[in-house]
Parts: sequence; structure tokens; C-alpha cells
Amino acid sequence: MNKTEVKPASGKLGILVVGLGAVSTTFMTGVLMARKGLAKTIGSMVEYDKIRVGKGTDKKYLHYRDVVPITELKDIELGAWDVYPANAYQSAMYAEVLNEKDINPVRDELEKIVPMKGAFDKNFAKRLDGDNVMVGKTRWEMTEQLRKDIRQFKAEKGCERVVVAWAASTEIYVPYFAPVHDKLCDLETAMQCDDKEHVAPSMCYAYAALKEGCPFIMGAPNTTVDIPAMWELAENTKMPIAGKDFKTGQTLVKSGFAPIIGTRCLGLNGWFSTNILGNRDGLVLDEPENFRTKEVSKLSTLESILMPENQPDLYKDYYHKVRINYYPPRNDNKEGWDNIDIFGWMGYPMQVKINFLCRDSILAAPLLLDLCLLSDLAARAGRYGIQRFLSFYLKSPMHDFKVGEIPVNHLFQQYTMLKNALREMGGYEPDEELD
Ligand SMILES: NC(=O)c1ccc[n+]([C@@H]2O[C@H](COP(=O)([O-])OP(=O)(O)OC[C@H]3O[C@@H](n4cnc5c(N)ncnc54)[C@H](O)[C@@H]3O)[C@@H](O)[C@H]2O)c1
Repeated sequence: MNKTEVKPASGKLGILVVGLGAVSTTFMTGVLMARKGLAKTIGSMVEYDKIRVGKGTDKKYLHYRDVVPITELKDIELGAWDVYPANAYQSAMYAEVLNEKDINPVRDELEKIVPMKGAFDKNFAKRLDGDNVMVGKTRWEMTEQLRKDIRQFKAEKGCERVVVAWAASTEIYVPYFAPVHDKLCDLETAMQCDDKEHVAPSMCYAYAALKEGCPFIMGAPNTTVDIPAMWELAENTKMPIAGKDFKTGQTLVKSGFAPIIGTRCLGLNGWFSTNILGNRDGLVLDEPENFRTKEVSKLSTLESILMPENQPDLYKDYYHKVRINYYPPRNDNKEGWDNIDIFGWMGYPMQVKINFLCRDSILAAPLLLDLCLLSDLAARAGRYGIQRFLSFYLKSPMHDFKVGEIPVNHLFQQYTMLKNALREMGGYEPDEELD
């Protein structure tokens, strides 16, 4: 098989994160600590996983970096925007995800990560009131400022390439509105006319990133890059986009457990998922309009795994409900409960209960790392537009809804897509065999 031409991962890679909150600072602290040999990057598949290449007696298991050129942690430069002025050290301490002893060895480096002013509109996250924001700028002026920020960061840090990733708060739900979101020229006109209703601040970041030749990743459930206008821009600039919503706890379990029900041809009457969570993310999601965005993203997972139209006897009319409750005492240590009502032989009912006591940002940090490294790889391999091979990492994978494409939510199908993309970029045959 012809090897895809992949440019080397030479020079430095800048990772610019929108939002310097719990997820970003946990990610940054971990990267800096790992570089010093003081922590392990557990949960990162780029760092740990091995995939099989070759078959029969030729088969071998290789780390991703031995299959394709991926930037080393030592070559990463970190930067951020946030609506609060706290530097990464202060913000990591505030988030209380990591213990002080796991932050202090890299305190100096974290203190140097001072957030640039956020492109922000309070109407999109009413519970936030930070003052480190661009003042009086139209949506278009915001994009221009963000583009300047990216250029300046790149020059100051001597980066060869930059990836921009959204790990900021969930915005209110912005439904697809064809007159603005369909064509790039219309989106640009709306930005110029300062259409505050249809152009979310997150769209300004995505637009600026793509225009500056940076891949863009949407880690929240915002619909930012789920619009044809952004796909057009990604095509024009030949840049990858990936989203949306990090698949960390409950949805990871859901996309892994639902295939058990489906493969075993058991029926489903209902799936009730609830959570308690007390960090700033939980506070923002306590606002119904912001929760709506998360709800849409979380609900989409089951629909494409247990499809009523394929198996009406088993999956007709199942009831799927997702709740998130803000509960400050738990901070970042989210607790999720799933009650699954299934049925078997002759319709007899059974129940499954899953109680996941997870740590949100501990699960999200390695996803952010992998998504940034693999988006940069994709760009160097000449891949652009929606990166379906990254669906594994995302709760609500991007798909071309204009042509009726159904996203892949099945965890193990997503894993196959991920491995095959890596095999292809590394010059190996893709295959569907289980490892
Ligand atoms: N932790 C998880 O398991 C997980 C999973 C999936 C998605 N997410 C999403 O990741 C995002 C980050 O989560 P978190 O726990 O770090 O939240 P957080 O509240 O700790 O951090 C978000 C930060 O973004 C900043 N922000 C908000 N709007 C901004 C803007 N327009 N420009 C710049 N900065 C802005 C906020 O000031 C805040 O500091 C959330 O949207 C969350 O829903 C998290």
C-alpha cells in the first residue's frame, strides 16, 4: 500500500486552549509534569495504546508514534484565552482537581501561562462574569483580534504549527439556522453585521483558527463547527476540524455498554442517566439554556447504536433521559448513575445499574492531549474537514447531516476507525480484525 505523505512533526507545536479552567489546567499541569518525569500521562492512547499492524506471522503491535510521526510532549508550547485573568497556576489551584503537591513542581511554568482576553458574550454563559474580555468588539472584530493573538503566540513561542482547542464553558444552544450557517459568505456577513444571535463567540475562535491555518477542536457540546459554513472554511483552508464534546465518563460507558445490549439482541425499554457535579462546568450547566446544549449532545449517543428502525421489536420507543444536577460539595468528582431497563427472552424485564464515581477533568485531560496531537497529525497528512476518525474521543461526533450521514457512536466501531486511519497514514493495510 502506498504510504500517505505525512510531513514530519518537526519544530514546536503550539496548543492554544480556549478556556483556562479545570480541564485545561489539569491537561497543562499533566503535560508539564510528565515532561519532567514526575507524572504519567495515563489515559492518553497516543502515549500508551498499541495497535496491530500486519497480519499472521508479520503482525506486530506498535505505539502510535511508531506508526506515524506525532509531536513529542517536549515540543509542545501552551497558551490560552479566558474571561478570568487568573494564570494557569491560580486557575489549577482554584479548580481543586489536582493536589498542590502535583502542581507545585511546575508552578513557575504554569504562572507564565497568562490567558489572553476572551471573546465573550455573557448571553452565551450567564453564570460567568469575568472581566478579562474583549470590550465593545463586534463578532468580526473579535475574529480579527483572535487571529492577531494566534499569530503573536506563534511568533513569540517560535511554533511551527498551532492547534486551537475549545475547553471553555458550554454556551447556550445555537440551533442550525440556514441563512447564516449554511454558506461561508453568509456567516462572514453575519459576523460583519454583528449578528449576536446566530454567531456564538465560539464561532469566532473556530473561524480565526481555521483562517490562521490551525486545526480546530470543539471539546464542549457547542454547535460551533457543526455547520456547513465551517466545513466550507475547513475545505478552503485545508484544515481539520473535530468535535464535539469530550467523551469522558457516562457517555464513554454508554457507548461501550450499549453495544453489549445490541450485539446480544436484548431489548431496551429505557435508559435513565443522571449526574451530580459541582465544578464551574456544573454551575454553567445549571442554566437551562446551557444544559440544553449538553442534553442534545448526550442524547445522541444511543440513537445510532440501538436503532429502532433496524430492530423494532427490541428498540421501538425506548425512553432515554439525561440529567445533570449542580451539587457543589462534589466539585470535579462527578458521580453518575445509569439505570438501564432491558428485556430478554419472551419480553421478561431486567435491570442494569451503573454507578461511576469519576473525576471529570482527570478523564478529559488525556482526550484533549490526544485530540490536539492527532489533529496536528491529520493536518500534516493533508486531511481536512470533519475528522471522523477522532469520533472515538467525542460524545456527539460531527457528521454531514445535510446528506443524512449517521454518526458512528459505537465505541468499538470508532476504535476501528481510529486505528485504520493511523494504519493508512502509516502506510499499512486497514482491516477490521479484532486485536
Ligand atoms: N470534564 C469533562 O469530563 C468534560 C467532558 C465533556 C465536555 N467538557 C466540556 O469542557 C468544557 C470545560 O470544562 P471545565 O470543567 O474545564 O470547565 P471550567 O468552567 O472549569 O472552565 C471553562 C473555562 O472557560 C472559560 N470561558 C468561558 N467562555 C469563554 C470564552 N468565550 N472565551 C474564553 N474563555 C471562556 C471560563 O471562564 C472557564 O474558566 C466545558 O464546556 C465542559 O462541558 C468537559
